Amino acid sequence: MRPAAPEIERILFTQEQVEQRIAEVGAEISDKYRGGELKLIGVLKGSVFFLTALAKRIDVPVKIDFLSISSFSSKTAAPGLVRIAKDLDDSIEGEEVLLVEDIVDTGFTARYLLQSLAARGPNSLSVCTLLDRTSRRIVQIPVEFRCFEIPDRFVIGCGLDYRQLYRNLGYIAVMKHERGQ
Ligand code: IMP
Ligand code: MG
Repeated sequence: MRPAAPEIERILFTQEQVEQRIAEVGAEISDKYRGGELKLIGVLKGSVFFLTALAKRIDVPVKIDFLSISSFSSKTAAPGLVRIAKDLDDSIEGEEVLLVEDIVDTGFTARYLLQSLAARGPNSLSVCTLLDRTSRRIVQIPVEFRCFEIPDRFVIGCGLDYRQLYRNLGYIAVMKHERGQ
């Protein structure tokens, strides 16, 4: 496939590979929650593309809800400091909840979200991520479902952005130069 931007060095996972893997993980999730209902919680905006693709591959009844976060730059605040900018619409008390992430990198974001969600009394709470970069993990968090482990390179596509661009690419690509923001 021809890269859509000059910033792209190489394609890591093609659209076909991404779709195939999401179908496999959707089947694993369906097996775990069989007989019940599941609430998928997406983190705006990065996980929107993954969440909608995943939801279509899950064959137990699914509800969805979203929150958005603001991360503070490490120049102005403690590294990994995150706050909820837009909260969920509904309660998750007593529900089976799956936090759907685009990528778990240092783990700070997921840890913060898991703490915030756990305090609301869900019946169960797990994490599903499209991409996992365990080589950069600083805080350990339980990732129950992952589509791909990736190397320590900045990636775009499938919801992941470089300066808010390229979220709509169907594939996952490595950026040519240094790490973006
Ligand atoms: P963490 O708190 O370090 O785990 O960071 C997770 C967040 O950093 C993700 O939700 C993304 O918004 C962003 N991020 C980390 N790595 C990448 C990348 O390679 N491409 C695009 N965004 C990234
Ligand atoms: Mg981002």
